[in-house]
Amino acid sequence: MPGIRILGTGSYQPQKKVVNEDFTSFIETSDEWITTRTGMKERFVSNGEPTWFMGSQAAKEAIASAGISPEDIGIIIDTSVSPDYYTPSMSCMVQREIGAVNAMTIDVNCACAGCVYAIDMAKRYLQTDENMKYALVVANENLTKITDYTDRSTCVLFGDGAAAVVIERADDGLYSSYLGADGNGAKYLFARSIPPANAFMTGEGRVDDGFPESNSHYLYQDGREVYKFATKALPNALTKAAEKIDFDLNELDVIIPHQANVRIIETAAKNLGVSMEKFFVNLDKHANTSSASIPIALDEALKAGKIKKGDKVGLVGFGAGLTFGAIIFEF
Ligand code: ACO
Repeated sequence: MPGIRILGTGSYQPQKKVVNEDFTSFIETSDEWITTRTGMKERFVSNGEPTWFMGSQAAKEAIASAGISPEDIGIIIDTSVSPDYYTPSMSCMVQREIGAVNAMTIDVNCACAGCVYAIDMAKRYLQTDENMKYALVVANENLTKITDYTDRSTCVLFGDGAAAVVIERADDGLYSSYLGADGNGAKYLFARSIPPANAFMTGEGRVDDGFPESNSHYLYQDGREVYKFATKALPNALTKAAEKIDFDLNELDVIIPHQANVRIIETAAKNLGVSMEKFFVNLDKHANTSSASIPIALDEALKAGKIKKGDKVGLVGFGAGLTFGAIIFEF
């Protein structure tokens, strides 16, 4: 079966680091609450660095580590829920910055499952277009600009950052994916776009979308509903991806889950009957960076020597949408 080969990875963190204790000066919280409920200790936050800039820095590192030239990239797929512009796309901004002049560009908005979706899309483009040699997947997030710092139940959870992956087609090898969504859960996790008032707007065309009322663009989360969804979606996506190729999940060497909450990962490991030791966790250092969390963890695991050539790897994401997805491949 055609698969993928990951040729290079890179990541970028903004310079400003915020530790749990830093929140105690403006909301009622504690290091102890954040650590025991989430596993998070630190996160990097943008101090003005735009989303496209973080993505481009990560992309440059990934391209250098792959040993290719930006002109050889046939497609850039960028994933973000916190882009700098409605238009142009982040993939165009990254293309401009890195000089990937021959690449077509697409943005995807699949929240925390975004990188898994993007890698699977890249694989399908590489598989069907023989002229396309390399795909660049970029995940860049500036979540702090949609974070409400008066809401203690969400503001401690998020961080900013980016990561990128250079992929080429492999003519054979292990590969399976399972992607899905449940739009009925959209109301549990959203950031609304607020149109500015204008001379023609009377509001008579307003349609109720069933979402909780809010008059801000900040991220709203029903933590308990998302928690319930996540603890099911993570094991389900991995299991379904494995079933498609009759694969035993215990054969995976490393599983890189979306880094939303260590308790979600521990529950999923238990439900799957797979050792927690196989799960790479770095949310203590980055918190939840949405679509960037899986590739940041992948890059970190590679740099730490936790993934070797030939290892069987599982990536699994879940998030707003609600979306979910898993990929199993050989490194
Ligand atoms: N500090 C102190 N107390 C807090 C804080 C805080 N930062 N936040 C909430 N609390 C309080 C609540 O007010 C509540 O108090 P009450 O009992 O007096 O009402 C109490 O702590 C318990 O609140 P819960 O919401 O029940 O806490 P829970 O244990 O469920 O943890 C959390 C909350 C961490 C958000 C959890 O529900 C969670 O991880 N949910 C899933 C999040 C996730 O996976 N998101 C992924 C997608 S993100 C994306 O797509 C961008």
